[in-house]
Amino acid sequence: MIELREVYKIYRRGSVPFEAVSGVNLSIDKGDFAVITGPSGSGKSTLMTLIGCLDTPTKGNVRIDGRDISQLSRDGLSRIRNQKIGFIFQQFNLVPTLNALDNVALPIEIAGKSREFAVKQAKDLLVKVGLSDKLYNYPNELSGGQMQRVAVGRALSNDPEVILADEPTGNLDSKSGADVLNLLLVLNRQGKTIVLITHDEKIARHGNRHFLLSDGKVVKSGIKKGGVKK
Ligand SMILES: Nc1ncnc2c1ncn2[C@@H]1O[C@H](COP(=O)(O)OP(=O)(O)OP(=O)(O)O)[C@@H](O)[C@H]1O
Ligand SMILES: [Mg+2]
Repeated sequence: MIELREVYKIYRRGSVPFEAVSGVNLSIDKGDFAVITGPSGSGKSTLMTLIGCLDTPTKGNVRIDGRDISQLSRDGLSRIRNQKIGFIFQQFNLVPTLNALDNVALPIEIAGKSREFAVKQAKDLLVKVGLSDKLYNYPNELSGGQMQRVAVGRALSNDPEVILADEPTGNLDSKSGADVLNLLLVLNRQGKTIVLITHDEKIARHGNRHFLLSDGKVVKSGIKKGGVKK
């Protein structure tokens, strides 16, 4: 469902062009739990912006469900993003002036649904991530683990096929990190495709498909038979 062919992202700063992503080929199937690892600066987040239709490649093809997004306009990209992709970031990126419920309801309302529908849906999602008692708390009243669970709820708000998570446990203690990982594993079992970037070996081994990046290139990839480790 996600296919990259000879993908480059080249930043032009000063006289020497810099290849943050340098000729990447990779495929991720529906239902995969794909894990991307690699040292700092190896191009993981840049790759995620391409897979997530936040940006287009300098060269090469990025196909999502068979559709080449490489030439799409800003509007075209955001349409695919809204339909198919949910994001989770290391820094949570919640709106500080909205409570947990409204953080999750906001993208549903932006997608054109009624306030009433959005609130109902957001409540259901926050129950699903174990935050039924924190609906009306603001981000600064929540722990890191709770904020990230709100972000998982928000990522699910428009029922995406794919969840992209860039170091979702990077700012969490090990217990909260395990909770977030478990949520992602449950979602994967329910059919969501997960793409996870992590430095954490213990988390990485839960994936069924692995890509190791170095200097913008995939230097190692593998697929585990028997699917995701439970
Ligand atoms: N907008 C930009 N302009 C110029 N260079 C950039 C830009 N964005 C990223 N880079 C460079 O591209 C390289 C890859 O960055 P990226 O953020 O993808 O790395 P990463 O693997 O996610 O690292 P980390 O593990 O630290 O998050 C880095 O050397 C970075 O400095
Ligand atoms: Mg990064």
